[in-house]
Amino acid sequence: MIDEHRVIDEQRVAGERRVIDEHELTDENSVTGENSVTDEHNALRRALKHAIDHLDGLDARQIPASVGLTELRQRFGTGLAEEGIAPEQVIDDLVADVEGGLFMSGSSRFFAWAMGGVLSASLAADWLTSAWDQCPGIYATSPALAVMEEATGEWLKDVLCLPKHASFAFVTGCQAAHVTALAAARQKLLGDRGHDVGTLGLSGAPRITIRTGELCHETVARAARLLGLGTNAVVAHPCHENGKLDLDHVERSLDDSPTILVLQAGEFNTGAYDDFHRARELADKVGAWVHVDGALGLWAAASDKYRHLMDGCELMGING
Ligand SMILES: Cc1ncc(COP(=O)(O)O)c(C=O)c1O
Repeated sequence: MIDEHRVIDEQRVAGERRVIDEHELTDENSVTGENSVTDEHNALRRALKHAIDHLDGLDARQIPASVGLTELRQRFGTGLAEEGIAPEQVIDDLVADVEGGLFMSGSSRFFAWAMGGVLSASLAADWLTSAWDQCPGIYATSPALAVMEEATGEWLKDVLCLPKHASFAFVTGCQAAHVTALAAARQKLLGDRGHDVGTLGLSGAPRITIRTGELCHETVARAARLLGLGTNAVVAHPCHENGKLDLDHVERSLDDSPTILVLQAGEFNTGAYDDFHRARELADKVGAWVHVDGALGLWAAASDKYRHLMDGCELMGING
């Protein structure tokens, strides 16, 4: 949606930002260069048009899909084409085939689950990510993106009021975040007991206990399964009526096994934030690692009104 009548081109010419008028963008040759209109560019233009149509129509459309499984399988199950298809046709066909089968999660009338919604600058930057086709895992393969990752991590720590010394990693979602953070916990807790899981694996390692509330998101147990800790390692303690973990109950159960305490910052149904100060005290008594699931609620820290809910979360560093 080019509704600003101008787009700031981040490509800096002699240190200045170049401002492109909207009409320039709609003139095909001005953006791509004379005679450089290739099939690939046509496909991109088709995608842009379809994307804008989709976004413009979001609020008027019904939220759930209107087309069922059988119909969708028929549309997509045509097998591979014998002949090549023009790129822009591929895009048009794709759009036709998904018609009625999309969930309108970007709509302002969509309130289910915790998904959907994006800022227009983020969406546009996401397109550039595909066009740039970088491998920013290491600096050598994409210096600019490696530094961008560094910078955005710092911004996030700033806006979420996380300690400056915190490390960060971008993952695909909270499930992957659990796996990543609990892998670090596993490494540290077993390492403290003289067992290097990186070289020895889990064989012969002391059993880790994951203590959490009964309202804990199921992805924590899944992460335990993926990490070889097993779902039996997860002990679900009762929660109070307001959804907070009953830390008295946890305290009575603590023992000297390597322990991970999983807390919630914004439980999915109740919005509960656990008592981070008290949890930190308990964890320190037994050298436990504390992991906070902030899938939804971490953003409270960005709000003057709700920041207090996160009090104590900054204490959730690694023990030792
Ligand atoms: C509290 C909580 N934790 C974890 C998850 C899992 O997140 P994801 O779907 O990004 O893996 C969710 C998803 O809604 C959640 O609400």
